[in-house]
Amino acid sequence: MKCAVLGCGVVGSGVADILLHNADVIKEKTNVDLELKYILDIRDFPECEYTPFLTKNVDEIIDDEEVEIVAEAMGGVDPAFDFVSRCLRRGKHVTTSNKELVAKKGDVLFALARENNVNFMFEASVGGGIPIIRPISRCLAANRISEVAGILNGTTNFILNKMIIDGMTFADALVLAQKKGYAEKDPTADVEGLDACRKICILASLVFGSHVFPDERVFTEGISKITPEDVRAADSLGYAVKLIAQAKKLENEKIKILVSPTLVKKSSILGNVNGVFNACLVRGDMIGETVMTGPGAGKEATASAVVGDMIDMAEHAGNRKFFGWGNEKPGFIEDLSSIEDKFFLRLKGDRRDLAASIGQGTAALENGETVFITKPMTPSALDAALNGAEVKARIRVFE
Ligand code: HSE
Repeated sequence: MKCAVLGCGVVGSGVADILLHNADVIKEKTNVDLELKYILDIRDFPECEYTPFLTKNVDEIIDDEEVEIVAEAMGGVDPAFDFVSRCLRRGKHVTTSNKELVAKKGDVLFALARENNVNFMFEASVGGGIPIIRPISRCLAANRISEVAGILNGTTNFILNKMIIDGMTFADALVLAQKKGYAEKDPTADVEGLDACRKICILASLVFGSHVFPDERVFTEGISKITPEDVRAADSLGYAVKLIAQAKKLENEKIKILVSPTLVKKSSILGNVNGVFNACLVRGDMIGETVMTGPGAGKEATASAVVGDMIDMAEHAGNRKFFGWGNEKPGFIEDLSSIEDKFFLRLKGDRRDLAASIGQGTAALENGETVFITKPMTPSALDAALNGAEVKARIRVFE
């Protein structure tokens, strides 16, 4: 089956490499023939093995009836949305690694895929190389899923880890992550939590069935304000600081959804996910709790997930898969201010009095600061209780 790859960046070139070098393995395992015909990129490349496939003209791909499968790895919404829409309209199956595209335009693209009797897949958009989308939507389909949460950004996990273990500065660790090809073009999307926000919106849409858009209703905070003192104090209480994205069904049928630096127990699975690895925890009524973990970013790992979708689409070429979610449900996202959470606090001075009234366990008095974890409280109840206290850090705790 003839294939095209849109975008020859980190992921796109990885997909091309797999198609050029591992087609025999794919054939042996699945009996599917995937044959690279085009690579779209507007840039000029020096003579290399991609040269015979390169084109700058997307119409060449869209108009070529032979091309049945397209992998989009350009990133961003513009022009990816236009190109993907046109491919779907022309009866081509499309997979994408582009989380921004899926999070912002997934509902429209699923509808287009349905109308044109083709598949639109996005395994690589969340968790890089870790199979997450297919296991959630198929292997766990017998469950009512109540919660999905995890470490969904490899760059920030890598940075936090380098800061904790190697004592690197935030800036040096970010440069290293960029060199390794983990970070987005604009690292703000990683560092300020936007990338993780897009991914948790995709997962929330998938498990709760209606489109959750990555906009201001989804509380999003990155890691740029986390200090070595926070990390050390959390460690002394038995916790690690991670960028956690979480979405949970509440008793009132609305969802709690947010991305924030969060404390997780060092002894938990999430507390031991290091480097560029991601982890996705799913809670369901039949499975209980399961965690999928693996490389969450990087060329080969992400390309492996893209090609997994290409194989699936080739196997289901004449048979649309029931896959995706419905339109947005108004009022679906609960206001975070009305939801109780536990908070980790670093307060200046000896505030064991406060720890005794709102804390859930023992407080540590270290370096002139009181460090403890609160009982579950709404943010406003916590504000009221903290009246007058000098707050050095206030970070949610995940359980
Ligand atoms: N910048 C992303 C990350 C790439 O670091 O996780 C994978 O989506």
